[in-house]
Amino acid sequence: MCGIVAYLGKKVAQPILIEGLKRLEYRGYDSAGVALLGSGAIRIKKTSGRISALEAILDEPNTAETFGIGHTRWATHGEPNAVNAHPHPDYTGKIAVVHNGIIENYGTLKTWLQNESAEFASETDTEVIANLIGYFYAKEDESKGGKKPDGQNKFEQAVQRALGELHGTYGLAIVCSEFPDMLIGAKKGSPLILGVGDNEYILASDAAAIVEHTTQAIYLADNEMVTIGPEGFHTKTIDNVTVTKDLKQIEFSLEQIELGDFAHHMLKEIFVQPKALSTCMGGRIDRQNNRIKLGGIASYLRELTRTKRLILTACGTAFHAGLVGEFLFEQLARIPTETEYASEFRYRNPIIKDGTVVISISQSGETADTLAAVEQAKERGATALGVVNVVGSSIARTTDAGIYLHVGPEIGVASTKAFTAQVAVLTMLAIELGRRRHISSDEAVRYIDELSRIPDKISRILEQSDHIKEIASANIDKNNWLFLGRGFNYPVALEGALKLKEISYIHAEGLPAAEMKHGPIALIVKDMPALFIATAGPQYDKIMGNIAEVKARGGKIIVVATEGDENIKSALGRTDHLISIPDAPELLQPMLTVVPLQLLAYHAAVLRGHDVDKPRNLAKSVTVE
Ligand code: AGP
Ligand code: GLU
Repeated sequence: MCGIVAYLGKKVAQPILIEGLKRLEYRGYDSAGVALLGSGAIRIKKTSGRISALEAILDEPNTAETFGIGHTRWATHGEPNAVNAHPHPDYTGKIAVVHNGIIENYGTLKTWLQNESAEFASETDTEVIANLIGYFYAKEDESKGGKKPDGQNKFEQAVQRALGELHGTYGLAIVCSEFPDMLIGAKKGSPLILGVGDNEYILASDAAAIVEHTTQAIYLADNEMVTIGPEGFHTKTIDNVTVTKDLKQIEFSLEQIELGDFAHHMLKEIFVQPKALSTCMGGRIDRQNNRIKLGGIASYLRELTRTKRLILTACGTAFHAGLVGEFLFEQLARIPTETEYASEFRYRNPIIKDGTVVISISQSGETADTLAAVEQAKERGATALGVVNVVGSSIARTTDAGIYLHVGPEIGVASTKAFTAQVAVLTMLAIELGRRRHISSDEAVRYIDELSRIPDKISRILEQSDHIKEIASANIDKNNWLFLGRGFNYPVALEGALKLKEISYIHAEGLPAAEMKHGPIALIVKDMPALFIATAGPQYDKIMGNIAEVKARGGKIIVVATEGDENIKSALGRTDHLISIPDAPELLQPMLTVVPLQLLAYHAAVLRGHDVDKPRNLAKSVTVE
């Protein structure tokens, strides 16, 4: 929900912070700021707007400042302006904080601190953290030289006392002017990673800000903090119990997070899907023995094979992938399965009986609602598995086991390659469970065969990008769209609508096509775009009927159909549009039918002049509730 970067080392900090914030800007971008140390007092510069607006107000880098913290914000408390931007100093001016998350009891704490004469400048919850640390810091009895009996110092002590009062979530980077060579990080519910370089440290919300400096990192867990100083770093719990953390290798490369020749990260991530899916499935599809190997959950396969009920839980695009998964598990493995919005599941006092397995799906692995749903499921005795992209993320670490997508970092706020990879993983799992429960080996082999061909078929669809851009252009003035599909393509209709909404700001609704006549058909007016996924499948004739219903009312038809379908052409008029895609078994089609919809949304957003990778009001990872 925001980007945190901190640097402590020998290099000039300012440019490193700015570069790091740019790599995290997709996480939140309504305001930004830095705090620099090394030349006496803490020097804070912050502004509303993008990182470029921050760069415009910065002075020349000061070579004495080799230590600092930075933040790019997605506001939750207080409008996105310069005062509410981070870093937040405390009322004494000795402490500065950047924060990702929400402090739920900030109101109570703020009142209490004000009664203790602490002054506030902003409307944010974050400023309460700064002032609470400043309060405890000012109250600490100074032992000789600032050292406490247990090796702790006054700064750490004040931070721990403040953290003990907070309810809510935080990823924090904290500095103190009286400890100009000490950085403290703390984590609870929002991600925080410490990159360990050669005599330098980068603390960040996401490895994307770290990987150009070092690929060695430690991933803080909830209720842990790290203190970095001249003697190196040490990790402990927020109640001061030492914790040993292993250094882990950051899995992706700088090249993977750079734009390359693409105009936007989203376009790159759409076009990299054939390669991403090949990587995601490679090593997991054993063509020798026609088996699927999902090592991450190998020890749970027996339980999954015997499970009486599967619950898939996720948000947004990941929810749509889960819906495809639901149909896959029921069709191939005959396991009763339901897909739940995590934000609903977690509050609904869900019924979880023995034998239930909950699978959470999340690209970032940090979505607060999905993480909470996982915790709920575990508390109620379910086995919790994850389908996650970001290695070492909170959901990956909270679930009992899981399957990583391995498609590299997804930077564009609108999720694309993660969706197709999530569907690919769920498909592989469903085929494997189906083979163990319900379908014949021959059927499994056929599906494995067809699955292996999906990346090439996506490549062929990508060749139609210009054609799809023309369709977007021909309808760019329309402000209301319908997306309609049946069976396995019904979740894809939902996904297509979400894509268009979130980056072109055009209102769109996804529906099961048959549902139109139960109300939404009233919306159809002349030339209103209705996009149908009418590929070959058991409900093809029915969906042709739905197309006729819309045409009879003057709607404009955009249809995704199977190559070679001559029948569909006779159903279309001069102003309608056809996108033909390669055939595949219906249950494998979502990875194909979604691609034209991703491209349509992308081109519409560009044609409307929007910032495709950083759409208004959104952020890549929703780490707040
Ligand atoms: C998808 O395009 C959106 N950006 C959003 O719906 C996203 O899918 C949702 O927030 C879930 O994110 P996650 O997969 O990281 O949990
Ligand atoms: N809740 C804090 C604020 O509104 C942090 C938001 C974020 O995570 O960016 O400033």
